[in-house]
Amino acid sequence: MILNASGCLDALTAPRVARSLDAFVAKTITPEPRPGNAQPRLAESDFGLLNSIGLQNPGLDVFYAEVLPLLEELEMPLWISVGGSNAADYARICERIGERDSVDVLELNLSCPNVDPAAAGAAEIVAACRAVSGKPLYAKLSPQLPDIAEVATGVIEAGASGLSLVNSLRGLVLDEWTLEPRLARAVGGYSGAALRPVALAAVFSCYEATKGTVPIVGMGGVQSGKHALDLIAAGASAVALGSVLFGDLEAPERVRSELEEEARARGFERPSEARGAAHQPFAA
Ligand code: SIN
Repeated sequence: MILNASGCLDALTAPRVARSLDAFVAKTITPEPRPGNAQPRLAESDFGLLNSIGLQNPGLDVFYAEVLPLLEELEMPLWISVGGSNAADYARICERIGERDSVDVLELNLSCPNVDPAAAGAAEIVAACRAVSGKPLYAKLSPQLPDIAEVATGVIEAGASGLSLVNSLRGLVLDEWTLEPRLARAVGGYSGAALRPVALAAVFSCYEATKGTVPIVGMGGVQSGKHALDLIAAGASAVALGSVLFGDLEAPERVRSELEEEARARGFERPSEARGAAHQPFAA
């Protein structure tokens, strides 16, 4: 299963790529509109991209009335990313958006590096959302948690159905000559190729901690079918493409066919058969 990472496709690009994705993941919605952080908020860096978008979005009401109907025209499974400042914010969005049949999954963004962190803990937010919606809830976690596997088991116990691993890492890029931060907010979220081993480690340890019982969407620097296969071997049941989409809208199609080829070359009839293969040497 190949998805886009939240925020990496907009309403214009989505229809061009949608057919080659198994589900479309929308940009994070918050209860009120957010203009996003000050410009500049994108900077290229070695091996990746730094962003400080700041969850720019039109807010729940406009999303519900104007954006969701457009996404529904894609006629494909929709995952809606949910943000907020506290558990009540997340629950309010889950309750309203969760009532739409077109929405398959609510992805709880518990990890945006570009806004102040939610006051509530991850498990508390998940429990509040679970209380108001029967939809599958995926918790999107930060690779910078001191113990991501512990948080993963906590959110699953609180009612999450799956995990999205990982969001970007906090990073800083300085201007070559002025030595000032390239982003207005200085520190931003770093994604791209350098995130790949970090994402692999997070998926690997969360798969072990949950004993492979919950679905995991692996993401972070995937640019090829082999990168996707690595995440599946570490424990992912689906793979999301992020920054690669900014430069290559053909990436989902290409990664899918490379993934099938790479899996077959290693004796797996389907990529899904490789899930958890990296763990076998460690089995008791
Ligand atoms: C952003 O809007 O700042 C990026 C979204 C995220 O990293 O969660």
